[in-house]
Amino acid sequence: MTFKALIASGGRGTRLRPITHTQNKHLIPIANKPILHYAIEAAVSAGIKEIGIVTNADSDEVPKAIGDGSMWGVRMTYIPQDAPRGLAHVVKIAEPFIGKDNFIFYLGDNMVVGGVKRYLDEFEKSGTNCYLTLAKVKDPERFGVPEIKKGMIVRVEEKPRKPKSSYAVAGIYIYDSSIFEAVKKIKPSARGELEISDAHQYLIDHGRKIGFSEITGWWKDTGKPLDLLEANRLILENTDPGIEDGVEVDSHSDIAGRVVLQKGCRVVRSKVRGPAIIGEGAIIENSYIGPFTSIGAGTQVINSEVEYSIVLKSCRILDAGMRIEGSLLGNDVEIVRADGKPRVQRFMIGDQSRVEVA
Ligand code: G1P
Repeated sequence: MTFKALIASGGRGTRLRPITHTQNKHLIPIANKPILHYAIEAAVSAGIKEIGIVTNADSDEVPKAIGDGSMWGVRMTYIPQDAPRGLAHVVKIAEPFIGKDNFIFYLGDNMVVGGVKRYLDEFEKSGTNCYLTLAKVKDPERFGVPEIKKGMIVRVEEKPRKPKSSYAVAGIYIYDSSIFEAVKKIKPSARGELEISDAHQYLIDHGRKIGFSEITGWWKDTGKPLDLLEANRLILENTDPGIEDGVEVDSHSDIAGRVVLQKGCRVVRSKVRGPAIIGEGAIIENSYIGPFTSIGAGTQVINSEVEYSIVLKSCRILDAGMRIEGSLLGNDVEIVRADGKPRVQRFMIGDQSRVEVA
């Protein structure tokens, strides 16, 4: 059976402001690689050759960043969505691209370990019309939640106040073309969107066969800043260490554990304790980089300490004083010591930023 892949990359990413004021959330890097690449790679390693990406119609950021697919040896088709009208709407507008084929629908901000081939095989064997992946979570009320009776999904509710199980329906779905009837028949929800959970409920109500599988490794929906840090931690933990071309590490530095040093970065009189990644051309001087940290390309960390954080491109962290931890810094951010007396903290911070001071 051949499958196509449909990847959602639209939406406004409001819970990740201010980062998403200037960057699509699907392009925020995890371990220095855009989140969206992980979805594309999952499809590619399952043998999929045709990928459709649904994008915000008012922005060419995603097509520009991802290109025509030749980087992965696949054909990429971009499908613009005029406004965030819900995930079922994303599926609806993709019908001309999908045609009569079976397909995997992958939310571009979801990350799963171990790829998706296993689920495609299970869908094929199960002879179902729709195959859902479920993940056990502490906060099911944030997700689509299945109600399971005698090993069958009998209901799916979107963000229920009283969840009927402790599972989230993860953003990795497999369908045959019967999903198109569902997405055309359902009506917008109270928040004005065509909900994917309502499309699933439609299939159940109309006697279609729904299969499911539990994700036993880890799965993350990277909708909130803390989720990003956790995803970064998990990816770094599973990344092989390596040193790329032109890297300089002086004899006073100590690199311990799983550390990736990317092209041309420099580590001087510093300690880097992995899992961590130091981006292309970054400079770490007289500093400590602790576990679960990604330092973006061209960023400088001098006389400072950073741990369990994501720092994007071209930042300057100079004489920061206290250790920076559990933090997400956008591109071109500066954290520098304030000169002179009295000792003060001085801020120049954009809309919807958040700073915690000790
Ligand atoms: C969406 C879906 C929800 C699903 C979740 C998975 O929610 O509506 O059913 O469980 O993705 O990531 P959203 O992230 O849009 O709130």
